[in-house]
Amino acid sequence: MTRDEFREALLQVMERKHHWAWPHFTSGAVKKARLHVHLEQEYAVFVRDFPVLVGRAYVQCPLPAVRRELAENLYEEETGGLHAGRPHPELFLEYPKGLGFDLSRFEAVTLLPGAKLYRGLLDEVTQARGWSVAAAVVTLFIEGTPHERALFDPSAPARPEPALSEHPLVKHYGLPLESLALTKAHRGVEGDHRQAAWRMMLDHVPGAERAKVVSAMEQVLAAWLVYRDDVALACGLEAPQR
Ligand SMILES: [Fe+2]
Ligand SMILES: [Fe+2]
Repeated sequence: MTRDEFREALLQVMERKHHWAWPHFTSGAVKKARLHVHLEQEYAVFVRDFPVLVGRAYVQCPLPAVRRELAENLYEEETGGLHAGRPHPELFLEYPKGLGFDLSRFEAVTLLPGAKLYRGLLDEVTQARGWSVAAAVVTLFIEGTPHERALFDPSAPARPEPALSEHPLVKHYGLPLESLALTKAHRGVEGDHRQAAWRMMLDHVPGAERAKVVSAMEQVLAAWLVYRDDVALACGLEAPQR
């Protein structure tokens, strides 16, 4: 697999990181009384432990240039020391706090079946398949969006960045603007994390490992879609007929 083929395969996985229920979350169609389920599952599946997941890629990586990228990402996510001012997992909790949800629920989340499978897979791919798979899944799949192509192609659709007052949690659920600290932090720093993720993949993953990385990404995408099905159902949404 050439570098260009590798990039294209990764972009095509990311372009499928899209779930049918998402427009229901962003248009206010999910009842506020159920919205906590989505936030709790996201928190327990990857938000809370995100810095640790980055760390798993770091400790397995023999390449200093890649470790530096991962260390910077880990430090910001774990402490907010470069940009956000506070740990990102803590800033995430400002969403449920601002919405008036019971924060104690976030300390003991029971994962939905699909969430449990997805998290199990994340644990496996970040610990047992080498740094390239761990870094791809954590910095590209988890942190990335379906709009990665816009980083390389100015004619590709960019990630929409509506005004903060138009943020779905503000617009449809009454979240105070000041509770969007994580959204603000991500708008400031996430561009760097996107660039770093692609540098690690395209400039450092050895040619012989590219196919392995793509197949792990496909596997994670499939598990993520099932996880999001379970969250949608638990939030009272019905899957469209396929
Ligand atoms: Fe973050
Ligand atoms: Fe990040």
